[in-house]
Amino acid sequence: MKLSRNDLCWCKSGLKYKKCHLEFDERLKRLKRHGYTVPSREMIKNEEQIEGIRQSAKINDGLLDLVSKNIKEGMTTEEIDKLAYEYTTDNGGIPATLNYEGYPKSICTSINNVVCHGIPSKDVILKSGDIVNVDATTILNGYYSDASRMFMIGEVSEDAKKLVEVTRECLKKGLEAVKPWGFLGDIGAAVQQYAESQGFSVVREFGGHGVGIDIHEDPFVCHAGKKGTGMILAPGMVFTIEPMINAGGHEIFIDEDDGWTVLTADGSLSAQWEHTILVTEKGTEILAK
Ligand code: MF3
Ligand code: CO
Ligand code: CO
Repeated sequence: MKLSRNDLCWCKSGLKYKKCHLEFDERLKRLKRHGYTVPSREMIKNEEQIEGIRQSAKINDGLLDLVSKNIKEGMTTEEIDKLAYEYTTDNGGIPATLNYEGYPKSICTSINNVVCHGIPSKDVILKSGDIVNVDATTILNGYYSDASRMFMIGEVSEDAKKLVEVTRECLKKGLEAVKPWGFLGDIGAAVQQYAESQGFSVVREFGGHGVGIDIHEDPFVCHAGKKGTGMILAPGMVFTIEPMINAGGHEIFIDEDDGWTVLTADGSLSAQWEHTILVTEKGTEILAK
């Protein structure tokens, strides 16, 4: 049904359409007519949803802060998982990955040559020299937030340190490439350019994603790409940027035994950092870090 100028806006702001998203919708329509891919209505979050995601992210951030304070050599990844479960549920949240499509744990713990989706286990003990990604997704009142950080255990090699730092910079550069009314492909272009300039490679099969009402929403955010291509980024979009960067080649494979663990094909190290971000009228807001 077509909204009239004086109807209430679809975003539930309580404002008249002409004072709210009318111009926004016309801008998207114009872009679409000119052949650009534009976000669908479902990809645009309203204020209530954004606030819900912000609250969810408070728990997710708190959980990763807690992991950061406690993670150490000799600990099992299952102990980290337990910490995550307790913290999340104590704060009224639900770990989104627990029982998600059969995934058995509250977080992912991906060590060294594991790219992502490593499953916490009582048999995996953190040792000096390990680089570990802890990835947490929280549901609060139905709203999802998603972030991950790298941790370096004990004495880590210079090569591993460099990979962790370059990957962190990739996330920063990807974030800086996000401009309202810019292009989704600008993110991948920025990440890929920097990662490859440092002699590293970008994983293609996994990437960022819309998030907020569900764990994985459209669009898919590829961390390799070309400037000025892909979907238009509009204010109200919420998605993750989560570059997975390999020290060697970009190829990966999935462990056949557990069906989850993603590993580098050549056994090289892999790192990842993830934020949930909001596209605003002026730029971006980091929702979960
Ligand atoms: N947090 C992950 C992401 O960044 C999702 C993990 S899904 C799981 O998209 F099932 F593997 F846990
Ligand atoms: Co994610
Ligand atoms: Co994640």
